[in-house]
Amino acid sequence: MTKTATGEADLADQGLGYAVNGPYYDVIFPEPVRASLSDALRLLVPGARTVADIGPGTGVFTETLLALVGREGEIFAVEPTRIMRAALVTRLSRMPAAADTVTVLPEDALEAEVDVPLDAVVLFNVIMHFSPEQRARLWRKWADALSPGGLLVMESQHPQTATAIPPSVVPGGRLGRHRYDTVARADVVGEDLIRWVMTYRTWRGDDLIREEAAEFDCHVVSDEVLAAELTAVGLERHPAAPEGIQAWRRAQTR
Ligand SMILES: C[S@@+](CC[C@H](N)C(=O)[O-])C[C@H]1O[C@@H](n2cnc3c(N)ncnc32)[C@H](O)[C@@H]1O
Repeated sequence: MTKTATGEADLADQGLGYAVNGPYYDVIFPEPVRASLSDALRLLVPGARTVADIGPGTGVFTETLLALVGREGEIFAVEPTRIMRAALVTRLSRMPAAADTVTVLPEDALEAEVDVPLDAVVLFNVIMHFSPEQRARLWRKWADALSPGGLLVMESQHPQTATAIPPSVVPGGRLGRHRYDTVARADVVGEDLIRWVMTYRTWRGDDLIREEAAEFDCHVVSDEVLAAELTAVGLERHPAAPEGIQAWRRAQTR
């Protein structure tokens, strides 16, 4: 079965995908990735006032954006998956600045509507969920939502071609007596489609006390394909994007 953009929210409602991943998300998120993507936001959108965070998950980067936009700013957090939205709203509810600033939209990114021009649209760790046909609509919709000079920001995808990725262990954090990690591997399941199999492990000392696996079918998008697609909707590459970051700008006039 090929899962689609809207599919991940539905699959989670069936206990699959993010329903398995959600309870582990923050404790297994690799700290170097969190730091480098947050640094990229600080570099690229320091003066942003209006931002959409597409697929914010538990809000790891919504929190960074909240500090950047300040009290006068506005953030739209577009998160269709119930379990991730629960974590997001819990995080935001404990941040006083979010009350006046962050609107959580439960719709899919292809359906959500915002009624102000956006200085930035952030799509971290989400574009693999969109098929080529869906990406065309995604780019058109959010490029049109940008203010002149506004930015679309995402990370370069890994892998860049549809190739199998052998299993590797990604260390996570600890909570009390337990330590967490993830075994990640990918298989090729179609043209430009890979299936990530993520096994979330809980350890007590040297004892493995729990493991749960989630599968995600992910569309492979090379930097080259991305450039062609984003150029086709009138965006231009930001000259100062750090390595590994794709930042594309709406022209001042078009
Ligand atoms: C890997 S998580 C990334 C979360 C966050 N951006 C981060 O980097 O920590 C992907 C998120 O995208 C969301 N998502 C999946 N399909 C989506 C869609 N069509 N529209 C908006 N969000 C979607 C999922 O529910 C999930 O929360």
